[in-house]
Amino acid sequence: MLRPASIDPVAQLRAERISARDNEDPCASLCTVASVDRDGLPHARTLVLRDVEEQLAIFGNRTSPKWQQMPEGTVVAVVVWLPSLSLQYRLRCTTRPVADHVVHASWQLRPATPKKLDWLYTHHQPQSTPVTDRAALLSLLESLDLPEPLIAPDTAAGLFLTPQVVERLDLNQPDGVHDRRHFERTDRGWLESVLVP
Ligand SMILES: Cc1cc2nc3c(=O)[nH]c(=O)nc-3n(C[C@H](O)[C@H](O)[C@H](O)COP(=O)(O)O)c2cc1C
Repeated sequence: MLRPASIDPVAQLRAERISARDNEDPCASLCTVASVDRDGLPHARTLVLRDVEEQLAIFGNRTSPKWQQMPEGTVVAVVVWLPSLSLQYRLRCTTRPVADHVVHASWQLRPATPKKLDWLYTHHQPQSTPVTDRAALLSLLESLDLPEPLIAPDTAAGLFLTPQVVERLDLNQPDGVHDRRHFERTDRGWLESVLVP
């Protein structure tokens, strides 16, 4: 029951995230990204969902487990929940690296502590690895030798997310029956079908 879509669902997501931002929605700039490790175990985490060169993107560190789980071309599942609009988007996306110079320019806008952490991951311990305790972590952060001027380490990275499948669930229906639509990207443009909610 797929038919040509009446709307580009990625453009719709973009417009609705802007509306959510206008509503000061705490989730407007966030998403949950799920990936699968080498043993087939699923992992999900909250990430900032960025708009880079008019595409969706996420930024992180190459030392982190998630980066190992998302090499170029991998399929990841992404969820965006916008409570102020009662909308859920579920995306199936392929990944593609963001050019390092774009990541490094954006990295300069990060607060001081995440910048330091990126250097800690690079020279001392990969992200997501255990430390003796919090005090040891804080003291390691304090003792870091940072480059002057402070630039991004090579481990700072970004991935474009290209939605191939989009599902939009709109809870905002006067009759109480949620509106659930499935979209698939094809060579002929987006196709759409209505799903049982
Ligand atoms: C609101 C919020 C935003 C976050 N944004 C990012 C982000 O943009 N990039 C990132 O690497 N981690 C971000 N994190 C931390 C991740 O959720 C996660 O804890 C971390 O990246 C380690 O994940 P991993 O072990 O799966 O690699 C964010 C966490 C929260 C709660």
